[in-house]
Amino acid sequence: MRRPLRAITSGYWLQRSAIIGSHFIGGRLRRRTTIDGQNEMTNKGKERTPLVAVYPGSFDPIHNGHVDVIRRSVAIFDEVIVAVTYNPHKDAALFTGDERVEMIREVIRDLEPRARVDKFTGLSVDYAERIGAKVLIRSLRAVTDFDYELQMAQMNKQMSPGVETVFMFSNPRLFFSSSHLIKEVAGYGKRLPELVPELVIERLRAKLKVR
Ligand code: PNS
Repeated sequence: MRRPLRAITSGYWLQRSAIIGSHFIGGRLRRRTTIDGQNEMTNKGKERTPLVAVYPGSFDPIHNGHVDVIRRSVAIFDEVIVAVTYNPHKDAALFTGDERVEMIREVIRDLEPRARVDKFTGLSVDYAERIGAKVLIRSLRAVTDFDYELQMAQMNKQMSPGVETVFMFSNPRLFFSSSHLIKEVAGYGKRLPELVPELVIERLRAKLKVR
């Protein structure tokens, strides 16, 4: 059983109790008095519902920036579902949904069962609700991602108030990784081993018929 995860925040209300369990999302909290006489929120003694997070995206294909986010997410959430969005009828992706799932499964094999892969069609919040996930993970690379991600997070909140979007900044070493650019340069024969897992490089070369 994992120890409850605690989060520190700098807001006034929370400074008083300083630390709360992040499992307050969706859970009912009880108060207890801390050493300094302040109230602290806790649900100690209660069986905690596993905190499931969905990391949605097209992953066409998965790259090391994604893998880094998945590894860091597994350190925070009880279960992380890497969810490949696909549309069998009008998907402009290079790889099919199943090919993307297969690559991800191989790349994150060492993280199973805490991280696993699935695919879905439709809205990511609907998918999250269907599987009982309370969190959507999104990653921010540069400020250019921000506007779209903010709009999407707000729209998702509007549709599903019980699902929180949690943002992670991408690793600075990998922040320029993008599936779009990786596909483009792979088409010219570049391998980019720092940015792309070896098995994905091979699949890209086969798909793009690079010798
Ligand atoms: O690969 P990406 O561009 O990071 O994925 C974008 C995302 C997450 C929007 C997409 O893959 C997805 O989840 N599509 C499902 C439809 C959806 O939920 N759109 C957002 C509506 S606010």
